[in-house]
Amino acid sequence: MEIKILREDATKIQTPALIVNLFEGVKTPGGATGDIDKALDGTISRLINDDEIKGTSGELTLIHTFGKIGPNRVLVAGLGTQEGATADKVREVMGNALRFLRNKGITSACTTTQGPGIGELDPRTAGQAIAEGTFLGLYRFKHYLAASDKNSQELNDLTIVESNADKIPALQEGVRIGRIMAEGTMLARDMANEPANIMTPTRMSEIARQVADADGLEASVLERKDMDDLKMGALVGVAKGSHQPPKLIILKYNGDPDNASNNLGLIGKGITFDTGGISLKPAGGMEDMKGDMSGGASVIGALQILARLHPKVNVTGVVPATENMPGGEAQRPGDIVRAMNGKTIEVINTDAEGRLVLSDAMVYAKQQGVSRMVDIATLTGAIIVSLGKICTGVMGNDQDFIDHVIDAGKSAGERVWQFPMFDEYRDSLKSNVADMMNVGGRDAGSITAAKFLSEFTEGLPWAHLDIAGTARTDSDKGYLVKGSTGVPVRTLVNLALAGES
Ligand code: BES
Ligand code: ZN
Ligand code: ZN
Repeated sequence: MEIKILREDATKIQTPALIVNLFEGVKTPGGATGDIDKALDGTISRLINDDEIKGTSGELTLIHTFGKIGPNRVLVAGLGTQEGATADKVREVMGNALRFLRNKGITSACTTTQGPGIGELDPRTAGQAIAEGTFLGLYRFKHYLAASDKNSQELNDLTIVESNADKIPALQEGVRIGRIMAEGTMLARDMANEPANIMTPTRMSEIARQVADADGLEASVLERKDMDDLKMGALVGVAKGSHQPPKLIILKYNGDPDNASNNLGLIGKGITFDTGGISLKPAGGMEDMKGDMSGGASVIGALQILARLHPKVNVTGVVPATENMPGGEAQRPGDIVRAMNGKTIEVINTDAEGRLVLSDAMVYAKQQGVSRMVDIATLTGAIIVSLGKICTGVMGNDQDFIDHVIDAGKSAGERVWQFPMFDEYRDSLKSNVADMMNVGGRDAGSITAAKFLSEFTEGLPWAHLDIAGTARTDSDKGYLVKGSTGVPVRTLVNLALAGES
């Protein structure tokens, strides 16, 4: 897919389809939509008056122009009400509109600069949002489809038509950044969409190395023996039930070597398949557990983006990657393991494995010199009960840092909602025989999981993102398509960029 920018009058451009937009409640369109309306002798305003076009969010109206103006078709995309519209509206409209055109077999399209009137988006932000919405909305995972399906037509050429020459350089820069953001997000999606027989811990580590080689990151991978030597009893315990060797993947981006002590840690859960282990999950829907490495994939995607944008920050990614299988060597309920920081854990439920692998990875990240950390995990079904699939849950030990994470999510269009961490929630993890149990009963399952993780922050500011509800989606909507969403790759990048010195 190519995105070009052209200085041209939108009414004159020769293209199979031009996308314009319209806010809800507008009777006489202005801007580029207004120019098209006039050139079409008021067709759009007439359709508005007839109530056929309302401008509601998600509405798409295709108008054929029969040679009257340059574009053969005009696609009017509804934006909803103007109030509170943000860059995310632009991403959404681009995704919806371009998938609509692709379904019609259209391979090349133009769009006016979506942005004016939308929260006064500057051209750089608008360009970035257009590119992100375009790439992410048109994304498909089709590695395993028959060639005939595979070659189903792509929309492979988009031109942004902008009449104001002054805006073009910033638009161009925005498109460059948006493309990089989308590519890292799609890398994470690809990894999580792959089935677990392919996306093993070994495969994840190979991809991390490839990303590092291609874009200039430092990569290292610890093997089971190294984990034993480092006394990572919690991580090794989970890996015991599987024949796939576990890997601890480390990616480092050193953009600010003069400030080595300012180093953001990103720790991503990398369970390449979660059967539950001996506490086996029910069969229904278990196939979705191939996505239990989405947190880890988002860390690798975010580091690829940072390597390509090269901001002045340091970021260390750590991904504990293993399967959670019920093999003959598997750990049992009641087993006690010792994490790298010496704390002992009574494993009550082997299906609460994410917190086990993360605990050792977090302690390891601290040893690697990170100064604050975010862990990202498809950690609890309970977060879906609480928040549905609308937003990611965040918990942590430092309100300032949590606020930064929430803000980073806002500009990415990835919503994040905070849960409390009152001391009492820790009580349910009390064990008679170890420092803690790995589960805390039915109540407040997402919070007690976070309380467990808080035992392994080693005194650092920390935020925990529970993405069990947001890592995948069941339908195409806006710039999200069925399957892995790549959430929260762009949030993590924004967070890192906010720490630039
Ligand atoms: N990977 C699951 C959480 C999950 C559930 C992710 C649904 C995506 C969709 C996690 O390892 C798990 O099994 N958690 C248990 C914890 C319980 C045993 C305390 C859960 O949520 O049921
Ligand atoms: Zn589990
Ligand atoms: Zn899991």
